[in-house]
Amino acid sequence: MSGYTPGEQPKDMKYVKLNTNENPYPPSPAVAKAMKSFCTDRLRLYPDPLACELRKTIADIFRLKPENIIVGNGSDDILTITTRAFVGEGEPLASFEPSYSLYPVLAELQACRCIKIPLRYDGDFHIPPDSAEKAKDARLFYIARPNAPTGTLFPIDEIKKICRKFKGVVFVDEAYADFADDNCVGLLKEFPNLIVGRTLSKSYSLAGLRLGYALASREIIEGMMKVKDSYNVGMLVQALAVAALKDRKYFNETKKKICRTRAFLVKSLNEKGFEVCGSQSNFVFAAPPDNDGGGLYRRLKKNGILVRYFKGPVTGRFVRITVGTDGEIRTLLRNT
Ligand SMILES: Cc1ncc(COP(=O)(O)O)c(C=O)c1O
Repeated sequence: MSGYTPGEQPKDMKYVKLNTNENPYPPSPAVAKAMKSFCTDRLRLYPDPLACELRKTIADIFRLKPENIIVGNGSDDILTITTRAFVGEGEPLASFEPSYSLYPVLAELQACRCIKIPLRYDGDFHIPPDSAEKAKDARLFYIARPNAPTGTLFPIDEIKKICRKFKGVVFVDEAYADFADDNCVGLLKEFPNLIVGRTLSKSYSLAGLRLGYALASREIIEGMMKVKDSYNVGMLVQALAVAALKDRKYFNETKKKICRTRAFLVKSLNEKGFEVCGSQSNFVFAAPPDNDGGGLYRRLKKNGILVRYFKGPVTGRFVRITVGTDGEIRTLLRNT
């Protein structure tokens, strides 16, 4: 198997780095404070395997119970746990295409097939109406909402329709939902087969910390808890994640700044003749006027700006640009 290819992480930071959807702003100052006051003697001991305080903190934010929450070493760990919990050898999983390229890799790891359902494109990406039907043999359906790399926020009614019709587990990957107008957390009450995945990597500026989580019914979480590594989230990570999650003010301010810069980036790219997909994330998927995404990627890289390029008949026209600071985006725009 070929494995997952992560975006480039250059050792020297001479690049304007707009390729892996990290947050350009530092994490909340509460994180640094929690780190300074953390007693390192405690690291002698194993962490709380149930991450009780952290799960309670998350539960309070969403008005759920800790029994509805599982935490992991980034949301990639949550995705691995989900695949292992719900897909047996030879039982397919389903995902859209283009979408997060880890989903088919997880299928391969589980020795199962990935049913790839192409999104419809007509200037933007749409869920085809017969998706649940196409996915009917699968046990698990991965839907990134907002989608990556396109940034699309599929209508919530489409998600409901899939939850209703699809017989297996629906995982709505909301890695970018904090930058969007709505999310699927409210659907959990209605659909016992739904899991909503989240991460602190994007909206909390903590990609390096590695903390992801999922929200679901008690029964689903119980099943996932059996599959996870006992100590899948370290003690320091648990403490720092609690500090970050509790600072709602900083979180909201950072989120607003990113959304403002996104609007500026979209408008500027449109003015330059780019075809820009509607984005509800901290990145935009945009095709230059000559439709040569690869060419633009290489030109930008030569000029010290990293964006992400996904080759392929649909995606190859585009580049994916992370929303950086206003200064970084101005530098990008000068070079496009
Ligand atoms: C759709 C989607 N889900 C999950 C992840 C993984 O995030 P994490 O850093 O929490 O593992 C990413 C990372 O880019 C992503 O794009």
